[in-house]
Amino acid sequence: MAHLFEPFQLKGLDLKNRIVMAPMCQYSVTAKDGKPNDWHFTHYTSRAVGGTGLILMEMTDVHPDGRITDYDLGLWSDDQIPAFARIIDAVHGYGSKIGIQIAHAGRKAEDAAQPVAPSPIRFEGSQYKTPREMTTDEVKRMVELFADAAKRAVAAGVDTVELHGAHGYLIHQFHSPSTNRRSDEYGQDLARFGVEVVQAVKSQLPSQMPLLMRVSAVEYVDGGYGLEHMIEICREYQRAGVDMFHVSSGGEGRPGARKPGNYPGYQVPFARAIKEALHIPVIAVGMLEDFHVAESVVGNCDADLVAIARGMLRDPYWAIHAAQALGVTPEVPKQYTRAF
Ligand SMILES: Cc1cc2nc3c(=O)[nH]c(=O)nc-3n(C[C@H](O)[C@H](O)[C@H](O)COP(=O)(O)O)c2cc1C
Repeated sequence: MAHLFEPFQLKGLDLKNRIVMAPMCQYSVTAKDGKPNDWHFTHYTSRAVGGTGLILMEMTDVHPDGRITDYDLGLWSDDQIPAFARIIDAVHGYGSKIGIQIAHAGRKAEDAAQPVAPSPIRFEGSQYKTPREMTTDEVKRMVELFADAAKRAVAAGVDTVELHGAHGYLIHQFHSPSTNRRSDEYGQDLARFGVEVVQAVKSQLPSQMPLLMRVSAVEYVDGGYGLEHMIEICREYQRAGVDMFHVSSGGEGRPGARKPGNYPGYQVPFARAIKEALHIPVIAVGMLEDFHVAESVVGNCDADLVAIARGMLRDPYWAIHAAQALGVTPEVPKQYTRAF
């Protein structure tokens, strides 16, 4: 049996294989109402038909001003729940598990009239505005917005929730010394906002539903934080209730000299380091599309799961094709068995 096709269990989440569809913004909400539509339905159910173990729906925002663009998904209102539930039910019908990545873009909210952030430091690039520093009360309210969105995700039927703590979005902005210059308690303790979000979100999940969190293990801007900083932040998040980390990197600004370049598996050592330091399951991501590279990540115990992003845009049946390449009889819908 290929390692990629061993089942995986984390609390009440049981997966048929180790393959995750990474969250990928589709920027396809035409009505600007945050609701997934037929595009999203087809996009996600195709990857379920394609044999993916766990599908993570794209960055879904807790407030309209937390969207990267007005075409992003949102869970800031109860009337958004049914459109998510339709997709989740269908994905379950095709044998995959599904979670939603919950987020706020903070200073990277391109279409917000006035983006908010921990500190008024603008993200590089002409499309970004200088954010307004959130008041302490607004930070506390933001924690509640994350919890409310998670509650709606649960009502829609998810198997797990992923918090977006990576790529320079709001949670990342709080735990990075380069974007958090606050003098209140949320600046004195860089993990505090994320910890409160984790605790508040966790309180909305059924006891057996694991909470995932995506983090950027290192920053690539000159003067950005390194792996040791992020391991200590992750330690706090783990104590607060994170059950598995999804380990990415960067996204906080223009990469400086620290960026090693992109090559297959370039983020895998970060996933392994967090797994070893905290004794916690991890998802590796980043140029793992080659079936044998993905297999080696699980086989070498670098990570528990592998997430595929662009590879699944190219091939919705990536998991079926991985099974064939690794000598495993693929699980396909009965309508397709004559082809396998
Ligand atoms: C079109 C697109 C949209 C993305 N949107 C998100 C997102 O919503 N949330 C997130 O955490 N990462 C997002 N990413 C990053 C991917 O999840 C992934 O980390 C990255 O593409 C590297 O994996 P890959 O080499 O398999 O593509 C996006 C990537 C792409 C290509």
